[in-house]
Amino acid sequence: MKRTRISRVLASEEIGSVFTVMGWVRTKRESKGGFSFIEMNDGSCMGSLQVIAGEDLPNYKDDVAKLQTGCSVRVKGTLVASPAKGQRVELRADEIEVLGWADPEAYPLQKKRHSFEFLRTIAHLRPRTNTFGAVARVRNAASFAIHSFFQEKGFVYVHTPIITGSDAEGAGALFRVTSLDLAQVPTVGGHVDFTRDFFGSPANLTVSGQLEAEVYALALGDVYTFGPTFRAENSNTPRHLAEFWMVEPEMAFCDLDGNVELATDFLKYVFSYILEHCGEDMDFFKRFIDPSCIETLESLISQDFERLTYTEAVEILSKAKVPFEFPVDWGSDIQAEHEKYLCEKVFQGPVVLTDYPRTIKPFYMKVNEDRRTVRAMDVLVPKIGEIIGGSQREDDYDTLLERMKELNINLDSYWWYIDLRRFGSAPHSGFGLGFERLVQFITGMSNIRDVIPFPRTPGNVSF
Ligand code: 4AD
Ligand code: MG
Repeated sequence: MKRTRISRVLASEEIGSVFTVMGWVRTKRESKGGFSFIEMNDGSCMGSLQVIAGEDLPNYKDDVAKLQTGCSVRVKGTLVASPAKGQRVELRADEIEVLGWADPEAYPLQKKRHSFEFLRTIAHLRPRTNTFGAVARVRNAASFAIHSFFQEKGFVYVHTPIITGSDAEGAGALFRVTSLDLAQVPTVGGHVDFTRDFFGSPANLTVSGQLEAEVYALALGDVYTFGPTFRAENSNTPRHLAEFWMVEPEMAFCDLDGNVELATDFLKYVFSYILEHCGEDMDFFKRFIDPSCIETLESLISQDFERLTYTEAVEILSKAKVPFEFPVDWGSDIQAEHEKYLCEKVFQGPVVLTDYPRTIKPFYMKVNEDRRTVRAMDVLVPKIGEIIGGSQREDDYDTLLERMKELNINLDSYWWYIDLRRFGSAPHSGFGLGFERLVQFITGMSNIRDVIPFPRTPGNVSF
């Protein structure tokens, strides 16, 4: 089956040439002069192709006249300049073949605009809408830009494991992986006997590829991972998913300043790429989703990111004349409302916060000389809040052990991580970017469930 993508046909200068296109009918209307106008979309671009079908087609009555929104068709026709407003070219059909019918009584995507909540219940059909088509194309372009950025800089793409025996964040939010029969779980002394499980010890889905990326950074220098991560936290918010994609660069011989610099360059590169390659989709988001989305990206590219310490941020927040739900005092975590206040009200742009209290950050972050803070770095952006979290890593053997003991971490399952500090340890740093939060920020989509094809959230894994 040979076809030309509609994106290419719409851009074609070859008036008079014959093309075969395949796609889905968006709308069809009949005109008085014995013609039908069919808007066809094949997902290759936002735009639809107008097909003119005349009554003289042999199957006009049997097929063309019965076409409805959602049907899939093959059209062979001649490209002509369009006399009508709204499109440059159109296709005059010589042949139309219906590949798949769609019963208008049953097909849920009719002309009207549907709510995103409704579309989530039909995740198998929503990519056929303008919004979800555009999100999918921007997601694709952003993934490509991410790989280009790191490849151009000489980073090595490392595939870190999905199933692991350690919990990278030291947090409890893990999905267990098991092949035990849950109706007959073997126990010893009242506990699950994991020696009889598939791996012979507890296993879970990874919450981050960082610890394994560190292994490769301390051998190959600059590496990155880009893969799915899983968190079983019960956060029903517009910015949390149970399964999301994370980009995690890790660099040997790099301190916190180098890390901040990479994160800034990285975001600017991806935003520029999107503006350059996804113009039509970004125009759509600007028109229908967030009028400021293009401007926001443009200003971010040309702007320096504000950089301040956690301590400085707490000072600003404690003087703020707004009623926060969560109190701000030195030692407690910065909440989403605080992140938004800093980005939207105080600095009107992205903010990099560094040097958080050690008590609220994971064991692997490098402890500062003051012993109270760690070399952490979060990048916050307007509307989303935290988009990147990272740090310089603790490379000192004794300090790392002390930190792990302080947090009651099982040293046995991290022996290899600790070992790295015994043999050729080196300063190193890295960060994690939440890919869906990035796509949200770019597109202006307000709910994270609408920027991933099949969102996994508490209570929702059906399809
Ligand atoms: O700040 P986090 O937890 O950092 C880490 O996992 C580090 N190990 C990364 C590293 O240094 N290599 O997560 C990183 C980013 C967050 O800033 C956020 O953008 C995103 O991942 N994120 C989520 N995105 C969607 N749903 C969730 N439940 C998320 N949790 C974190
Ligand atoms: Mg974080």
